[in-house]
Amino acid sequence: MRIRKKKWVAPYLANEKHYLIKDVLPDTKAYKAIYLELGMGMGDFILHSAQRNKDILYIGYEKEEVCVARAIMKFEEMGLKNVYVIHDDVKKLLKYFSKIVDRIYLQFSDPWPKKGHAKRRMTYKSFLDIYDQVLKDDGMIYFKTDNSAFFDFSIMSFLDHGYKMCDFSTDRHRVENDDVMTAYEKKFTDNGQPIYYAVFKKA
Ligand SMILES: C[S@@+](CC[C@H](N)C(=O)[O-])C[C@H]1O[C@@H](n2cnc3c(N)ncnc32)[C@H](O)[C@@H]1O
Repeated sequence: MRIRKKKWVAPYLANEKHYLIKDVLPDTKAYKAIYLELGMGMGDFILHSAQRNKDILYIGYEKEEVCVARAIMKFEEMGLKNVYVIHDDVKKLLKYFSKIVDRIYLQFSDPWPKKGHAKRRMTYKSFLDIYDQVLKDDGMIYFKTDNSAFFDFSIMSFLDHGYKMCDFSTDRHRVENDDVMTAYEKKFTDNGQPIYYAVFKKA
């Protein structure tokens, strides 16, 4: 997703006082768990999840500043307290986290379909090395995509990396569930496309 720069965004983020984590994490002790969405887009999954579960700390991680600013505006409007945002590239995750995250959500990440681009996929082994250091020892990864080839690639990547698969579906919404749906998930589901879903646990 290529997004145009907007003039208002940089000053808005420079003045943001609560939601944006610059380098040090806020006090996390008050929360039962930390859930992190990598590539949160406009933050709708984080917003609705945080409204539902006030005892969980949600952190949205996103490299596009326009998405970060738009998400923060929504969090402010709703007066949410249990949400923070990091504006950075996933490759820099270790700047912020060391074995404290309970769950990582990877939802509708770019599948990078060309073979030569496999290393860019967020489920490539070099990314899993990073997630190993971010997750607690019993941490989990929740993965969703609309792309079956990316799903197959990712399952093999997680299993080769020593993760156990605890749950999976090749049509997540065929049966009723209480998932908070991301923006992309709603779009694909409304178009009748199946959602591929899997949950992995560190061994
Ligand atoms: C297709 S969108 C999905 C957004 C959201 N998860 C959803 O399901 O609605 C993928 C998002 O990941 C972000 N992204 C891609 N690569 C990233 C990276 N290396 N670090 C941080 N964010 C990244 C993109 O900017 C984009 O907002």
